[in-house]
Amino acid sequence: MPAIKAINHVAVVVDDMDKSLAFWRDALGIELHELRDVPAEQSQVAFLPLAGAEVELVMPTTDDSGIAKYLAKRGPGMHHLCLEVDDIEGMMNELKARNIRLINEEPRTAADGKKYAFVHPESTGGVLVELYQI
Ligand code: CO
Repeated sequence: MPAIKAINHVAVVVDDMDKSLAFWRDALGIELHELRDVPAEQSQVAFLPLAGAEVELVMPTTDDSGIAKYLAKRGPGMHHLCLEVDDIEGMMNELKARNIRLINEEPRTAADGKKYAFVHPESTGGVLVELYQI
C-alpha cells in the first residue's frame, strides 16, 4: 500500500518576487536558500526550506505558461501543496480506483529525476495537490 511520507513543499504563485520576499524572508525570517530561474517551467522560483519542507515562491517569466495563465486568471496566492509519496504509480492507481481526478495520467520525470504528478482540485477540496517521489 503506497504511503504519504511528508509535506514536501507548498508553492505560492507571486507577481512580484521582491515584495513576496519582503514578507517570507524579511518579515518572517525564513532563510532564502536559492533564487533560481527555471526555464523549463518559464518561472523564477525562490526556495525557502523550513523544517524538512519548503516554501516555494513561483513567479512566471513569460506570459503564456500555465502558471502565467493561472496568475492572470486568479491572481497571486496558494498554488499547490506537494506531498511526498513512496510509490507514485501505486498511489495514482489507488486514486484512480477511487475515481479521484488526476491531471497527469502518468507520472512525469523532472530534470533531477524526481517523479511527480498533479491531482485535480475538483477531487481534493479545492487545492491543487502534487505528488512527488524522490
Ligand atoms: Co511543486
